[in-house]
Amino acid sequence: EKGGYDHFMLKEIYEQPKAIIDTYRGRMLANEGIIKMAGVDDNMSKFLNADRIIIVACGTSWHAGLVGEYLFEDMARIPVEVEYASEFRYRNPIITPKDVVIAISQSGETADTLAAIKLAKSKGAFVFGVCNVVGSSIARETHAGAYTHAGPEIGVASTKAFTTQITVLSLIALKLAQAKGTLSTSAVNTYLQTMQQIPAQVESLLKIDAQVKEIAAVYKDAKNCLYLGRGFNFPVALEGALKLKEISYIHAEGYPAAEMKHGPIALIDENMPVFVIATSRGHYEKVVSNIQEIKSRSGKIVAVVTEGDETVKEIADHVIEIPDTEEAFSPLLTTIPFQLLSYHIAVMLGKNVDQPRNLAKSVTVE
Ligand code: F6R
Repeated sequence: EKGGYDHFMLKEIYEQPKAIIDTYRGRMLANEGIIKMAGVDDNMSKFLNADRIIIVACGTSWHAGLVGEYLFEDMARIPVEVEYASEFRYRNPIITPKDVVIAISQSGETADTLAAIKLAKSKGAFVFGVCNVVGSSIARETHAGAYTHAGPEIGVASTKAFTTQITVLSLIALKLAQAKGTLSTSAVNTYLQTMQQIPAQVESLLKIDAQVKEIAAVYKDAKNCLYLGRGFNFPVALEGALKLKEISYIHAEGYPAAEMKHGPIALIDENMPVFVIATSRGHYEKVVSNIQEIKSRSGKIVAVVTEGDETVKEIADHVIEIPDTEEAFSPLLTTIPFQLLSYHIAVMLGKNVDQPRNLAKSVTVE
């Protein structure tokens, strides 16, 4: 049941500290510098000999896959392609036995993702699943895998599934980095110690709920919104926009911040709220100049910044502070205010938060 919350979505947002712990518990021995994942250990040679990793997924899981691309390439130096399962399966893709395919799916039942897996298997690729639902079709169809241990996700808008998918992908990336030696022992250890702080940081971040609600009240009648981020937080911008679209029915788009000048900046006027991720360790100076470009065209800025930020505070209309962490793990934090924002806007607009129109939790038809 909803455990005292008004909606499953809110309950699931608040469950994230625990869900992230449940996902890395028993897998990550941070003090010993050990990462244990049977599905990866048993198939390490497949991962190490892979020419590339292809990640297939849909929707929010595809956004988690994009974060995975940044993680795998940065930490383990393995080339990654992230594919919409629906596009991949129908374009006669080039797949060889030297490819490792990672399929990401909360439900484990998404029709396009399942079909992409079958295709990859038929071409001899090794297919690894990252699913939440135990025993689901995708979990059964893949050669090996690692479950997210998010617990049941009832709200149609995916929240804790997303952060736990990123947690699993982070562990795999670190494990491969360890095996390949692309990160030093001390770098891996630092990452593991940092990961261990994430649940408490998410917990502290949930306390800004009242502040996010005030911001939601200011922007709830917007007709269009933009979400911007760079690097590890570009996928978070896409995910922020998807959450708003899905449950509040407000048109929103996510973009890499630097793409603004290639078109979307033409949309900016005083009626356009722009949600920008400007964490201190991630291309900060560049994002600050992107923010200035929007301000000088009268756009409204809501910025997600690292605690203690001074510069963006001066320019933005609202700032939401998140605790400091490694940039690679920052999506686990920056995504939280956007989940809360969409939730509050949808509630204020009287929308059916847990069961938005036209959407199903499990997309078993293409
Ligand atoms: C967004 C959402 C959908 C799913 C997508 C894939 O909040 O829920 O975009 O992420 O339908 O679903 P799974 O992960 O079950 O394959």
